Amino acid sequence: MCGIVACSGESPVAPLLVEALERLEYRGYDSAGIAVPAVDGHVEALRSIERVDDLGRRAAGWAPAVSATTGLGHTRWATHGEVSVVNAHPHRDCSGRVAVVHNGVLEDVTELRRALTDAGHMIVSHTDSELIAHLIEEAMSEDTDLAGAVERVVGGLRGSWALVVLDARTDELVATCHGSPLVVAEGPEGVFAASDIGAIAPWVEWYHVLDDGDVVRLRAGLPWHRGGVPVAPPPAVACSVGVADLSLGLYPDFMAKEIEQQPDVAERLITTWSGSILHGLWPSFSLPVPRHVTVVGCGTSLNAGRVVADLLARLGSIPFAAVEASELTSTATVPGSLALVLSQSGETADVLTALDVLHGRGHAVVALTNNPHSALARRAEAVMMCHAGPEIGVAATKTFVAQVLGGTCVVLSLLGCSGAVEQQRAQRLVRDLDRVPDALAQAIGASRRTIPQVLEGLTKASGYVFLGRGPGRIYADEGALKLKELTYRWAESHAAGELKHGPLALVEHGTPVIVVDDGSARMHATIAEVSARGAEITSIGGHGTSVPALGSPLAVALDTTVDWLGPLASVVALQIIARELAVALGRDVDKPRNLAKSVTVE
Ligand code: F6R
Repeated sequence: MCGIVACSGESPVAPLLVEALERLEYRGYDSAGIAVPAVDGHVEALRSIERVDDLGRRAAGWAPAVSATTGLGHTRWATHGEVSVVNAHPHRDCSGRVAVVHNGVLEDVTELRRALTDAGHMIVSHTDSELIAHLIEEAMSEDTDLAGAVERVVGGLRGSWALVVLDARTDELVATCHGSPLVVAEGPEGVFAASDIGAIAPWVEWYHVLDDGDVVRLRAGLPWHRGGVPVAPPPAVACSVGVADLSLGLYPDFMAKEIEQQPDVAERLITTWSGSILHGLWPSFSLPVPRHVTVVGCGTSLNAGRVVADLLARLGSIPFAAVEASELTSTATVPGSLALVLSQSGETADVLTALDVLHGRGHAVVALTNNPHSALARRAEAVMMCHAGPEIGVAATKTFVAQVLGGTCVVLSLLGCSGAVEQQRAQRLVRDLDRVPDALAQAIGASRRTIPQVLEGLTKASGYVFLGRGPGRIYADEGALKLKELTYRWAESHAAGELKHGPLALVEHGTPVIVVDDGSARMHATIAEVSARGAEITSIGGHGTSVPALGSPLAVALDTTVDWLGPLASVVALQIIARELAVALGRDVDKPRNLAKSVTVE
């Protein structure tokens, strides 16, 4: 969504703000800006509707940046108001004393805007965020203390926000949040606030996570207020994000890096959990064995959840329903169902709203997330960590694999510990997981060798059809999603057998059809049907396919009879097809248009 950073230090702050914004850019890249206090007690702001590197170039020659040691910055994913300089953050009040950066969405915007206009405020942008600056200006006319004014203003707001506010007269910064993430930290360079720890990771060793309603002054000791009274800061969390995690190294883009990391991610996750799968992982959740599972998530995370629940249904005969988080209503849940909620960021607004619905209906929630301090992780009854490391490419890749494998560990633990799967078989299944990292590595190698040969045919098309059967169907859906978001071209995904019931009409000479091939006779009948109509088939699967030996991660390894996990390795080929096609079309694979990594508005 949007990215926020603020710093109060001893040395010039602008280069730090710009560097942090570069690391936050994946949260939104419609516009970016920074603001600092000028010597006359007014806010000076620099804003751009280009990327952060443009802002950085301009900041280098920007006079107010020379002496300012306090400031804030923002990178925007537009919600209220089009992409323009006037709508870019930071926003100012009328007097020019207050600057605000905001992530989230306010409610009652029309009424607020009218009330402020009636009170004489000149509102220049179309954003909801600017209103906060004017509200703080109003509050400061009664209470000159910035933290007090901020506390009063947010007490009257509805919606979601992570906010940092600058008072240019006192050089003071105050941070607060409600429903949007914010962390604060102290380091040798100064005191920081940021939407996520990655932004400031090179400068701090420890950080604190704000809870809804917390108000923090960004100064030494981090004076902390909760519910209007001073409290001690919450326990500090060690910053585990390294500089190497945040840099490209020799890779052309983060997506390429994150695809390559998948075997290591799988290895780390399996090593972390395999010892406890049959000895304690599920029992540690203290939850009853479910008779039904409701899978909730968005986009790629929902697809990962569908893979996991499909496995639970196949191995344990536990039925499931998968629901988009944005579509979950209290009537859409089965009484007594266990909720499996997946979100790599753990901050997706649709997911958090769904969490309220689930809790409201008394469902216990198992969260699968890559962010241990996220709102999802903090509010779920049980958490399974994905250990994928920071994922910076907007398109999810390694977190999909990590969610599938993390979920698989939970499924095996649930079935093994409850006796639903007999011990010896459970042990065999757990041992099979050891082959996954190798299978993913082989899939990367095979894809790199074979995909360039099919790419030229694919670049000419404007639309694509993806097909799968059984467990492969979900992978076909994931492949189509990845291709759409990266290439900006249409892609449809269907169950192979459904094609002849309608979508086959789309297929004409040269239509690319990408098949997650399970090697079955029924799949080959479908392939024959589309080939007969001139479709260009790219098949991902076992021997004889265009991108061979990927049908099942376990089939790739040694034992072709063990295919219970489904075609996990095919996702590697699907990711590489989408990325290579996007690169060939000149797209920005790490920052696809209109999207952002962490969607913190509904
Ligand atoms: C697609 C993609 C999105 C996310 C979705 C949910 O590549 O990344 O579809 O999967 O926005 O995000 P999280 O997992 O953070 O809830």
